[in-house]
Amino acid sequence: MTAINTSERIPNNVDLAGDRALQRALERWQPRFHDWWRDMGPEDTHSFDVYLRTAISVDRDGWAHFDYVRMPDYRWGIFLNPAEPGRKIHFGAHKGEDAWQEVPGEYRANLRRIIVTQGDTEPASVEQQRHLGLTAPSLYDLRNLFQINVEEGRHLWAMVYLLQRYFGRDGREEAEALLERRSGDRDKPRILGAFNERTSDWLAFFMFTFFTDRDGKFQLCALAESGFDPLARTTRFMLTEEAHHMFVGESGIARILERTAEIMARHGVHDPGDVRRHGVIDLPTLQRYLNFHYSVTLDLFGADVSSNAAVFYSTGLKGRFDEGRIDDDHRLEGATYPVLELADGRFVERQVPALNALNERLRDRYIKDTVSGVGRWNRILEKHGLEEHIVLPHKAFNRRIGSFAGARVAPDGRVITDEEWRANERRWLPTDDDRAYVASLMGRVVIPGRFAGWIAPPATGINRHPLDFEYVRFN
Ligand SMILES: [Fe+2]
Ligand SMILES: [Fe+2]
Repeated sequence: MTAINTSERIPNNVDLAGDRALQRALERWQPRFHDWWRDMGPEDTHSFDVYLRTAISVDRDGWAHFDYVRMPDYRWGIFLNPAEPGRKIHFGAHKGEDAWQEVPGEYRANLRRIIVTQGDTEPASVEQQRHLGLTAPSLYDLRNLFQINVEEGRHLWAMVYLLQRYFGRDGREEAEALLERRSGDRDKPRILGAFNERTSDWLAFFMFTFFTDRDGKFQLCALAESGFDPLARTTRFMLTEEAHHMFVGESGIARILERTAEIMARHGVHDPGDVRRHGVIDLPTLQRYLNFHYSVTLDLFGADVSSNAAVFYSTGLKGRFDEGRIDDDHRLEGATYPVLELADGRFVERQVPALNALNERLRDRYIKDTVSGVGRWNRILEKHGLEEHIVLPHKAFNRRIGSFAGARVAPDGRVITDEEWRANERRWLPTDDDRAYVASLMGRVVIPGRFAGWIAPPATGINRHPLDFEYVRFN
């Protein structure tokens, strides 16, 4: 492994110093990244010192280096997992051949598209979350938000490195464009739908990090199998950071449920209006937020039957989740996969060529992951003796992409009419009133050790520090 010289302008383990052209390209891009961070990164944080984790190398101790960092001075670096000597492509038509260290000419356009699509989500989420710091429920949470923001920034760096190093002039243009699109902008939106939605409050933020960062995990896992070795190595390292983002989401919702359940049990209140009078988030509101974030995230996996997915797989660009652990031919010749579809108002399972169903397969694996998470949340409600529980809606609910796009399906999987949809939509998806209520709870809490009333404190602090540690210092 290349040693890391952290005093370099761009910390890295890719021997940047040995590639002058690349170094110059990245040094030209860096000030534009800083401009973007200043304009679109977390609002009004230019003088904050934040107790952050910075990757200074990829070995066990180096990737989690904690210290106070002045936010704009965060040192975004380029880190790839160490190369595996003799690594082979292990799926698709090139199975058994040496992994590629350079981009194969015939796959250049597809690879670039995959990298740009992944790369675009990283700055998008920073843009979506940029106002949240103003209403953080504690210093602990504020610090976690900023940690996620700087790491999404680093993920952008990771993808820009690949573009600039391996894709020449087109790569440089794509790197610029990644800083020009804007989440939610009508004229130059981010590429994927969920990344143009607003993350306007902390309930939405925790739902986003639980559901949408988890989509990130599954996409990164599929790319970590890639025959293009630099992509595999860079996404593998990104996954170590992604785990923390999902932790923030899962524990954030768990803490909200803890607080709500405690109030409901203590006062014997169940009606949402009564629960709200105690200043906590009622379960139906939380459920509607969940329905929204879950369904828009399911769309991110793409069409259930997709010839692009088949091409990406058979050409060795994007594998399956846990490809190495699946026991089959890793070419999927003649294999089929069941895809759920609506025919004449009823759900039917259709066997389609497995190669075309790879998006659906990844989505199904993702759903399995979220089911476990929701199960853990429900145990909090049970622990307080409540009969209410949280459920994941049916996978056809509120979909915009794939065969369920535009179908009218209730969260419980009933196929319904347009009329029924309109009559019930307010019960199923967040209303303006829900968002206004949640917004009314959001006030800034910045006294060390204090937490807003709608959320329970976490079980432990960061890096073994106590909960009243000064995770953010304002100057
Ligand atoms: Fe990311
Ligand atoms: Fe993330």
